Amino acid sequence: MNDDIVAQLTEINKRLGYIPRAEVEKLARELKIPAAKIFGAATFYSLFSVTPRGKHVVRFCEDAPCHVAGGRAVYDAIRAALQLEPGQTSADGAWTFEMTSCLGVCGVAPVLMVDDDVYGNVTPERVAEILTADR
Ligand code: FES
Repeated sequence: MNDDIVAQLTEINKRLGYIPRAEVEKLARELKIPAAKIFGAATFYSLFSVTPRGKHVVRFCEDAPCHVAGGRAVYDAIRAALQLEPGQTSADGAWTFEMTSCLGVCGVAPVLMVDDDVYGNVTPERVAEILTADR
């Protein structure tokens, strides 16, 4: 994967919260490569989105180490706190809830991310505190 494409997609995703089709086409023209290649990169990485997201994105790790460390109860607590299912964005545009594969910090499972912040050893009791932290 071309590092330049990933770097530019990262900047777009951070600036707009997602990667609109118009930005993919603009980047394709600038880099003189097919838009399909850029769209492929935009959809390959789970930290990118090609659909609009909420102001804050909650990602919960769904891989086995997090699951066996009590992840199911944390997952249920997140769903209850946000009143969202994975893949949904709240009506007020404040929150998006997503599942993700391993975040690389299995030693502190279960793990969730809120925007760029990673939280480990999460318990159902800590979910509300994490979601209401200043950011
Ligand atoms: S499996 Fe959850 S962080 Fe690795």
